Amino acid sequence: MTFPLTTSAYRDLTGPAPTTDDEIRSAGPLAARAVGVTKVYGTGDARVSALDGVTLGIPGGRFTAIMGPSGSGKSTLMHCLAGLDSVTGGEVFVGDVELTRLDDRRLTRLRRDRIGFVFQSFNLIPTLTALENITLPMDIAGVRPDQAWLDAVIDTVGLRPRLRHRPSELSGGQQQRVACARALASKPEIIFADEPTGNLDSRSGAEVLSFLRNSVREMGQTVVMVTHDPVAASYADLVVFLADGRIVDQLAAPTAQGVLERMKGLDR
Ligand SMILES: Nc1ncnc2c1ncn2[C@@H]1O[C@H](COP(=O)(O)OP(=O)(O)OP(=O)(O)O)[C@@H](O)[C@H]1O
Ligand SMILES: [Mg+2]
Repeated sequence: MTFPLTTSAYRDLTGPAPTTDDEIRSAGPLAARAVGVTKVYGTGDARVSALDGVTLGIPGGRFTAIMGPSGSGKSTLMHCLAGLDSVTGGEVFVGDVELTRLDDRRLTRLRRDRIGFVFQSFNLIPTLTALENITLPMDIAGVRPDQAWLDAVIDTVGLRPRLRHRPSELSGGQQQRVACARALASKPEIIFADEPTGNLDSRSGAEVLSFLRNSVREMGQTVVMVTHDPVAASYADLVVFLADGRIVDQLAAPTAQGVLERMKGLDR
């Protein structure tokens, strides 16, 4: 599917994301992009085509949501874009670096230095405090955190009074904000969040979504988030809809109601 756009629309943060080779070429710098990506799991009877020729540019400094029915390939696309899974065909770029050209060591370093990933299940270490969890990836890598940046992240997450608490002493929303802060702490160019509010009540979910949106608005962060929830999607600047491993639609400046109507259209 193509979207009738001028090049200048891509600089407008409310415009659609490029989804064809031509649009990608004229889009200028992108935080990440998938070009003709296919992903096949299994062989023979067990063969599943999870991504079926996905071309998508992720503009920098913008909050993009990815939606679609269960099994449509959302997590697969996120994992391929983040270098957590390999593609069967096509190319994935983070900035201008093509991931399939990297050996394991370089890919690991790129993931560590340039990408933040927020998992649905938080993935916090129970025996470490909130602050220790936030700085853990940098501690492992032997990288000193930029203290001013770390302070800004912690204040944006609003967890300063909770830094010495362990995950079991934090609410679900606070734990997920720690996970978001951990993803942001190393100043990654791009953050991927796979249903970050899937396990949260609506109030905690709103905390996390506001934080992600603020990190885009106030810190210029690039965020890509998978969600099932039209209200969560309405925090994003743009929603991209997947079905059967393909991009089928987009909605800029989404409202929850607008997203719901598009999703009903997909289900039909
Ligand atoms: N490791 C795997 N091995 C085999 N098939 C897989 C694997 N991972 C995903 N799939 C299949 O690929 C397709 C896309 O899966 P994916 O997890 O990307 O969907 P999704 O859109 O994230 O769904 P959900 O909303 O349920 O999380 C599904 O049919 C799934 O069964
Ligand atoms: Mg998924």
